[in-house]
Amino acid sequence: MKSAEEIKESVKKKYGEISKQSRSENATVSCGATGCCDTVDYAIFAEDYSTQIGYTSEADLGLGCGLPTEHAKLKPGDTVVDLGSGAGNDCFVARQIVGDNGHVIGIDMTKEMNVKARINAEKLNYSNVEFKLGDIENIPLDEGIADVVVSNCVMNLVPDKEKAFSETYRITKPGGHFSISDVVISGELPDQIKEDAELYAGCVAGAIDKEEYLSVIEQAGFKNVTVQKSKKITVPDEILLKTLTEDELQEFKKSETGIFSITVYGVK
Ligand SMILES: C[S@@+](CC[C@H](N)C(=O)[O-])C[C@H]1O[C@@H](n2cnc3c(N)ncnc32)[C@H](O)[C@@H]1O
Repeated sequence: MKSAEEIKESVKKKYGEISKQSRSENATVSCGATGCCDTVDYAIFAEDYSTQIGYTSEADLGLGCGLPTEHAKLKPGDTVVDLGSGAGNDCFVARQIVGDNGHVIGIDMTKEMNVKARINAEKLNYSNVEFKLGDIENIPLDEGIADVVVSNCVMNLVPDKEKAFSETYRITKPGGHFSISDVVISGELPDQIKEDAELYAGCVAGAIDKEEYLSVIEQAGFKNVTVQKSKKITVPDEILLKTLTEDELQEFKKSETGIFSITVYGVK
């Protein structure tokens, strides 16, 4: 098993490579922490951003698994922090809502993603959107800085989710909130299916049980923790049949067990 540091290094390597590609190219490459495969289709989780005000195609690498800005109750003038900001996709949508008097800060530990996000911000001439290099387990921001925290398909990649959510709590203003989209598992998903799903869609290897995920958030101190949106990810039969018999497949399909992309909200 890989250590937390090894996982982070392979995440950085993989996202460094992905940052050089377009959304369509990323629809056929790996996203996972395993850094193992070249047949993964990212677009399986990604939502259509193209109709969002503030949408910037260069920043959309098809790496998200929800639309957190849509659920984040952003207001003009807000300070928004995006954890794992990638090329800046959610930051630029948030900027459009918070306006000239707001402030948007993207944090990402992959240098190449930060560079790409900064180039995008310069092209857009935004002076109140900044991108910082940093680890979500140790966010390089002061306590209580954010009115709103957003994050899109990132926490599943972070080895210490307790630390990540306690850092999210620390940087949120009292009365502030977060809206985070992520991949979680519901029910008892056999390891082999999890591995096959990772090769198929990525972002599954580090995903944890949904109830455990929500409990980590509550333990960090957040209140009113609510799932705002939940979408089951369909893994094709031919992939599941590598592990299950036809009968088991039918049972599996009837059950609530599966991989979900969820958008979660919580208040400090
Ligand atoms: C699946 S991509 C999502 C990018 C972006 N949120 C989007 O929707 O386009 C995950 C991003 O999280 C970053 N990341 C993963 N683990 C991180 C950590 N511990 N600290 C900071 N960034 C991290 C990766 O470098 C990568 O850019």
